[in-house]
Amino acid sequence: MDNPFVFGAATHGQWFTDREKDAKRLSANFMHGINTIIISPRRWGKTSLVLKVAKELSEKKLKVVNIDIFSCRTQEDFYQIFAKEVIKQTSNKFEEWVENTKKFLSNLTPKISFGSEPTLDFELSIDFTNKQLNEDVLSLPQKIAESKNMKIVICIDEFQQISEFKDAVIFQKKLRSIWQLQSQTVSYCLFGSKKHLLNTLFSKPSMPFYKFGDIILLQKISTTDWINYICKRFKQTGKKIPETMAVKICYLVDNHSSYVQQLSWLVWIRTEKEVFENNIKTALDDLLNQNSILFYNYVEGLTSLQINFLRAIANGINKNFSHKEVLTKYNLGNSANIARIKKSLENKEIIDISNGIITFNDPVFLLWFKKEFGILS
Ligand SMILES: Nc1ncnc2c1ncn2[C@@H]1O[C@H](COP(=O)(O)OP(=O)(O)OP(=O)(O)O)[C@@H](O)[C@H]1O
Ligand SMILES: [Mg+2]
Repeated sequence: MDNPFVFGAATHGQWFTDREKDAKRLSANFMHGINTIIISPRRWGKTSLVLKVAKELSEKKLKVVNIDIFSCRTQEDFYQIFAKEVIKQTSNKFEEWVENTKKFLSNLTPKISFGSEPTLDFELSIDFTNKQLNEDVLSLPQKIAESKNMKIVICIDEFQQISEFKDAVIFQKKLRSIWQLQSQTVSYCLFGSKKHLLNTLFSKPSMPFYKFGDIILLQKISTTDWINYICKRFKQTGKKIPETMAVKICYLVDNHSSYVQQLSWLVWIRTEKEVFENNIKTALDDLLNQNSILFYNYVEGLTSLQINFLRAIANGINKNFSHKEVLTKYNLGNSANIARIKKSLENKEIIDISNGIITFNDPVFLLWFKKEFGILS
């Protein structure tokens, strides 16, 4: 039997629900060479969406190249992974890897090595002592697209990583100046989960990537879609869940994609035939327990002012923190502290600030925090 629910990795096929409008918009952008930026908090479904659209378009004369730059710490790391993945993912056969490397990157004296399974992967190392040659790597997709008479979309996951490179802004200027000239044949889809960093990269007029493309702020999947999905997955695996219980699952984890799937799974394994309230209660306890070490670590790294601030949010306050009553009730000191606390919690990815409203990023951390700090739900 297939797994009824999937979490922890990008999802697809029967485990993918909704996102029809986003998929349509992304697909049109890909087909028409419009650059796209996708922003959402962690684990809402960016990668799954991009992979779904890429798969659907793979039949057409369009190649989607997926690159994850999470592990890149320097510009050189970026160039290496960019060159390797573009060569690899635009080649049909592994024999072409060497051929295309020589054909398109010969100026860079590339070295190629294979592991024990040469048809599966290869390593490319490029000598970047001559900085001029970096541009050869950046124009690689265009050369390949022209030579193969196809369009290419380069998707870069965890793109915010580039803001940590040395000389980050100069690097971004260079990328943009080259990329914006390629739109006839190559377009870019840049995404990531560190919302505040991505906002700075793409929405600040002084930054090189300002107005680079269509910005999609991914929303949560609606409760109606989740109910359909959850009820269907239970039914297909011979079990039954009343709609009210499916709503409860969504409500408890605030429709967070990955947690909806994980909590549904924990309920499913506890259910013999039909879901009862108690199955949900014990499944939620399990979810909280599984995460408790992580959440203790979060809290251990916080100052008491930061914890007091989170207590205020957990009590339902989401703005006007500088009001005297709030400062006093939650022991936040003076109003000058507030901006600093917000910034640091946002940098730690613990809170989200959207349109001035502050919320916990992780709905299960919020539940755990309330329980630990004795805050009534
Ligand atoms: N459209 C969807 N339908 C059903 N479940 C989904 C969908 N999108 C995401 N999920 C759930 O969320 C989980 C995380 O998805 P994904 O890895 O695509 O998110 P992400 O935003 O790229 O995460 P990260 O921030 O870690 O990169 C998946 O494993 C799955 O459980
Ligand atoms: Mg992802």
